[in-house]
Formats: sequence, C-alpha cells, structure tokens
Amino acid sequence: MSVKKINPQDFRKSLLAWFDKNGRDLPWRYKGGAHPNPYHVWLSEIMLQQTTVQAVKDYFLNFIKIWSTLPDLARASQEDVTAAWAGLGYYSRARNLHKCAIEVFNSHGGNLPSDEDALLKLPGIGPYTAAAICSIAFNKPSNVADGNIERIMARIFALKTPFPKGKEEAKVKAGHFIGDFEGRHSDYVQALMDLGAMICTPKSPKCGLCPLSSFCEAKSQNIAESLPKREPKKKTPQKYGVVYIFVNEKEEILLERRAEKGLLAGMIGFPTTEWREKREREVLPLTVTKELTVKELPEVRHIFTHFKLQLKPILVRCDKEKAEAMLSENIEESYFWQNIKDVKDDHLPTLFAKTLKMVRSEI
Ligand code: ADE
Repeated sequence: MSVKKINPQDFRKSLLAWFDKNGRDLPWRYKGGAHPNPYHVWLSEIMLQQTTVQAVKDYFLNFIKIWSTLPDLARASQEDVTAAWAGLGYYSRARNLHKCAIEVFNSHGGNLPSDEDALLKLPGIGPYTAAAICSIAFNKPSNVADGNIERIMARIFALKTPFPKGKEEAKVKAGHFIGDFEGRHSDYVQALMDLGAMICTPKSPKCGLCPLSSFCEAKSQNIAESLPKREPKKKTPQKYGVVYIFVNEKEEILLERRAEKGLLAGMIGFPTTEWREKREREVLPLTVTKELTVKELPEVRHIFTHFKLQLKPILVRCDKEKAEAMLSENIEESYFWQNIKDVKDDHLPTLFAKTLKMVRSEI
C-alpha cells in the first residue's frame, strides 16, 4: 500500500492549532510563547521517564518548592533527594538527577547546556531526554521520539513492523516533520505528546477528534486501534523472598540503607533475603533462639518492570542488645534502628512502604 507524501508544514500547522486550543496545562509547561525554565524541563523529563504525568505532578511541585533552582538541588544531600523521590520508582533516576545537578553546577555554571551532545554526557540523560530538553527547553528542532510519538507515527504511516523493533522506523518517520519550519519546536513536541495522551491513545483512539486524521493512513484504512503491532510479550518472571522486620523493646525498627548499586539503590528499606525465582523455605539471617517472638505476616506483592515480587514479612520481636549480639555477624554499617513512629512512610520506596503498612497494622 503506498502512503501519500505528507507536507510537514501542513501537518505541523494542524497540530499546533489544535495544541493552542487543547494543550494541557502542566506545572512544568510554559504556553503562549513564554520562555521555559530549563531546570523545570529537565527535572520533569527525568521524572516522566517510565512514569505518568499524573503521578509526576505532585513530586515535581514538591521538588521545585524545596529546591527552586538547579544549584539548590546540587547543594542538597543525596539522602534528602532520594527521600523526596521515594514512591516515584526507578530510584537510580534520583541519584543520577543529583549527580547531574552537581556536574552542571561545577562544569556549566549551573545552567543546563542547550547542546544535545553536551547534554548526552550528563548523568541520567540519554538520547530521548537530550532531544526533549533541546526542543522543549531551548526550542531547537530535535527529533524526540517517546512512546506517544512513536505510536502516532506508526499510525500516521500505518507501519506494520511490530514494536519494539518497529520503533526505529517510527523515529525515522518522525524526523520527516522536524526542520526549520515555523520555529515552534518546543510546542510541536509537546503537542505530539498531548495528542498521544489525549487523542491518539493506545486503546480506543479518538480519530473523530484528531487534528491529524486527514494525514493518517491508519485512519483511512480504519486500523488505528490495531497499531502499533507488538511482539508477543514474554511472561513476567516471578520472584520470592523474605523481608525481616526487627522490632526491639523500645519500639525501634531495624532499617537498612540499600547499596549504591542495583534495584532500589541508595533507598531505605528493611533487610531481605536475596530475591529468587523459587520460593524457598527461608531461614532467619541469625541464630534464632526461643527468646525471640517471630510472627509471619501476609505476603507483600510488588511489580517491578522486569519481574513480580512476593515478599514474606517476618516480624521479629527482640531485645535490642540481644538482637545486635545475634546480628553482629550480619549487621553492617548500613543498618540502623529508628523508632517506628518516626519512620516516614513516604521516604520509603513503595515496596517497603507496603511492608511497613502491614507491620503497623500488626503492632
Ligand atoms: N511526557 C514526557 N515529557 C512530557 C512533557 N513534557 N509533557 C507531557 N508529557 C510528557
């Protein structure tokens, strides 16, 4: 099937006219030609990686309230940044965000560079984010291909190669509309994102309301909803583990600051066993004596991107001294006691906030 050639200028004009009337008001967005704040654009783009606009809004507002400029964020402690990020997931983003702020502060005078190559050298900034910052913050004609834009292109050109393989072709097609046109590059990219979120949605696209329907091959073939095609999904692996909640006589609870590498890196949690694909009869990581009161709580379930996790919480009531003596071989510098009343649920990643909720209902 041959696809008619689309005039990029006409395409952009229709989209921008729609955006001017229907674009969303978002806390990091500057409509009507206002100059965007690159710090806000960068922060929002990092937060929006793998996370919905709805989930990001409050976190974004909280961050800019605490750290109103990039140098403020650079001067913050990493603990404060990860605590403010807790619940948003993909925690390496928070650590890279902080590292990036420090590097921009030290090497770029506190201002994000507007050059794609310079942006790409910064921690946490990959090709998508560099292109997004260039166009949204600095109004440069960059080819930004996020999930929304790839889906729109798959439909406009009725691309048949299943995603993720077909994403490359979708990005090449997106490039057809990038160039030196009316100069509204920032609005153009955000307009596509909004169109993808509001009209050209993954399910039940609202083709009747779409400003691009006259350009859309999938619409003319009536196959929009079936695109993009997707490779069959692999089954998400299931993992299991045990999470230990030690509570001492002063109602203090044993917490761990997790290692700097790996999942939930640098976040606060409870000690757990390794997470394995088989449910095993787990043992306590210490010599259990009869003096300890041990209680099993209902399992905590959590879904990460690449696997599902079921953790069995084991509540261990124990005397602090005895526990520390028993734990001495296992206890490391990264463990600390905190009164359960002082543990801030919203400073914990969701997995451990769920565990703590379960514990609070027990004690
Ligand atoms: N998704 C990623 N970046 C976005 C933005 N700037 N506006 C709306 N949705 C987005």
